[in-house]
Amino acid sequence: MVGELNTLKTEAEQSFQDAATKDDVEKLRVGFLGKKGKLTSVLRGMGKLSKEDRPKVGSKANEVRDLLEELVKSNLLRIKEKERAAEFEDRIDVTLPGRRRGYGRTHPLTRTADDILSVLSSLGFTLAEGPEIEHDFYNFEALNMPADHPARDMQDTFYINDDVVLRTHTSPVQIRAMLSLKKAPVRVACFGRVYRNDHDVTHSPMFHQIEGLYVDKQVTFGDLKGTLQVFAERIFRPGTKVRLRPSFFPFTEPSAEVDITCFMCAGEGTLKTGDTCRICKGTGWIEIMGAGMVDPEVFKHSGFDPDEVSGFAFGIGVERVAMLRYGISDIRLFFENDQRFLHQFF
Ligand code: PHE
Repeated sequence: MVGELNTLKTEAEQSFQDAATKDDVEKLRVGFLGKKGKLTSVLRGMGKLSKEDRPKVGSKANEVRDLLEELVKSNLLRIKEKERAAEFEDRIDVTLPGRRRGYGRTHPLTRTADDILSVLSSLGFTLAEGPEIEHDFYNFEALNMPADHPARDMQDTFYINDDVVLRTHTSPVQIRAMLSLKKAPVRVACFGRVYRNDHDVTHSPMFHQIEGLYVDKQVTFGDLKGTLQVFAERIFRPGTKVRLRPSFFPFTEPSAEVDITCFMCAGEGTLKTGDTCRICKGTGWIEIMGAGMVDPEVFKHSGFDPDEVSGFAFGIGVERVAMLRYGISDIRLFFENDQRFLHQFF
């Protein structure tokens, strides 16, 4: 009988190993330990044993029963764990990094405009805005560009009708600001979208300008240059020099193109490596904006007496500054909203 019990033991160990489900285990449990189970039927034969054999067989039988009970428990656990693992395998890979929520960045143009406006604000300029769809009067006429005057050719734009255009610059906001403030001092920074019939890698039909206007008694060209000097150093880098070249704008007299020393080569024209600087093309200077003293004609259209006040104005393209700052060679990148581009800016 001890031999029978041993066979039972080996058989049990085998069968439990093969059990794949809880039901399999239950069947085996009944098969071995149930009322009609194999162990039970072996034990039934114990009555026929001699007195000497009984304790030996009894203790073996106990051992096999304990083992069977243990097998039931441990295999149920094994199957449960396996089922859980299978469940997770389908749904969750806990080793994967979590899915991050995409978060936005400040657009490089917004950042550049914010920087320019905050420098102007620190210099006492307050923000002024005006409509993008503008009357001919504010965009041209009041800025000393009468109808049919060739000066209008500098800024070809989109006409809504004969009297209404998409504004070509932020200068009309100067006129609106002066007409509404009515008295000096006027110190405004005009910011917004402007439109021109222009498109290539550095020009877009829509772009952004920021314009500074300062009107007061005895504002001089020296004030303009000093303001531009501080402005350039803050926007680019300390030590940046400013150069004014004679130019023409209908609404300023005298007028100037404003150049700054190249921030890449510090005005040297060549890099430390000996290569020609690609930002300023070896000249050491970068053209950055237009500026000048407010033309008396403009004052007349804006309700100011040119004999009493004087003023300066300057206008800067936000895209141009951003392209220089970030080394971007194609202006269209700003407007395509390609996340791979936009996510490079912190
Ligand atoms: N409005 C001019 C332009 O768009 C720039 C400018 C502004 C020039 C103010 C002088 C003074 O070209």
